[in-house]
Amino acid sequence: MDYRELCLLWAARETGIIDAVMFRAGTPAEVAAETDVTERAARITLSAMTELGFLERVDGEYEATNRALGLFAKTDVRSIGTVPHQMDCLDRWFALPETMRTGRPPEPSDEWTANFMGAMATIDDATVRTCVTEAVHENPDAERVLDIGGGPGSFSKEFAHRGYDVTLFDQSDVIDVDRTFLEHEPIELVPGDATDDLPTGFDLAFCSRVAHALGPAENRALSKNVYDALEPGGVAVFIDKVRGWADDAALFGAHMLAQTENGDTYTEDQFEGWFDDAGFDDFEIRDVPGTNQQAIVGYRPRH
Ligand SMILES: C[S@@+](CC[C@H](N)C(=O)[O-])C[C@H]1O[C@@H](n2cnc3c(N)ncnc32)[C@H](O)[C@@H]1O
Repeated sequence: MDYRELCLLWAARETGIIDAVMFRAGTPAEVAAETDVTERAARITLSAMTELGFLERVDGEYEATNRALGLFAKTDVRSIGTVPHQMDCLDRWFALPETMRTGRPPEPSDEWTANFMGAMATIDDATVRTCVTEAVHENPDAERVLDIGGGPGSFSKEFAHRGYDVTLFDQSDVIDVDRTFLEHEPIELVPGDATDDLPTGFDLAFCSRVAHALGPAENRALSKNVYDALEPGGVAVFIDKVRGWADDAALFGAHMLAQTENGDTYTEDQFEGWFDDAGFDDFEIRDVPGTNQQAIVGYRPRH
């Protein structure tokens, strides 16, 4: 999305314009009266939102399109898409000077988790299939899969559809959101913090796009817990952007600086150190075809 489009939507959300036009007001004058923006601001914003496909004119009044209802009414996480999360991220980018001083990004809003999961759920099917194929290739005899930081369950569903017995592990706020739309999937949902501990007894531990949200000490703890979650002979497959491999890894590290307290992107040596210390053998990193990410692989020895 063009930065101007995102900034306009962000300002419309901040001022209450989106809420007003979606639920209560139909004209620029009504929107201005409902919020504390000028009528000029309301008129220009509503017409730009119409041009962008978020509003339509019906009998002289502005109404939300189905696209806008999906994004902003949030009755279903799967229809939220990427825009609300991008606006949440923008909040934190605007706070980056302060975060650079304090080391802590602003507190998340009440809608952070649903918006985050909405955005994560937009991952394309080809990437999901490729990553899952990469992972199962590492342990063709696997039966039980642990999807760590599984978010909205895109990968868990693919593993389950391929016949694996799947457990999705994530933080409790995410699991609460997941229960609203994953309840009919054959996936066990387990809340917790992967840096504290994980359920055990798995043949394959899959962990996509989690390491970059954590600091080095947390990744060390995560790697150890992943090792303990596996049966002897089991395999861990992390998917992430590795510095020195992914060409946008450093900028993504800056994104993590803006968005998280400890996150960053890491080098091959750092991943190898964490995996070695946890006890993994046969460490390997390779590109995931068709993506700008890598698979980071380690085996728990059989004996
Ligand atoms: C970027 S999302 C990725 C979701 C999914 N794996 C994917 O690739 O689509 C990162 C996920 O990791 C989860 N996560 C981050 N830190 C975690 C922790 N300490 N314990 C459990 N889950 C964690 C977040 O809640 C979020 O769902």
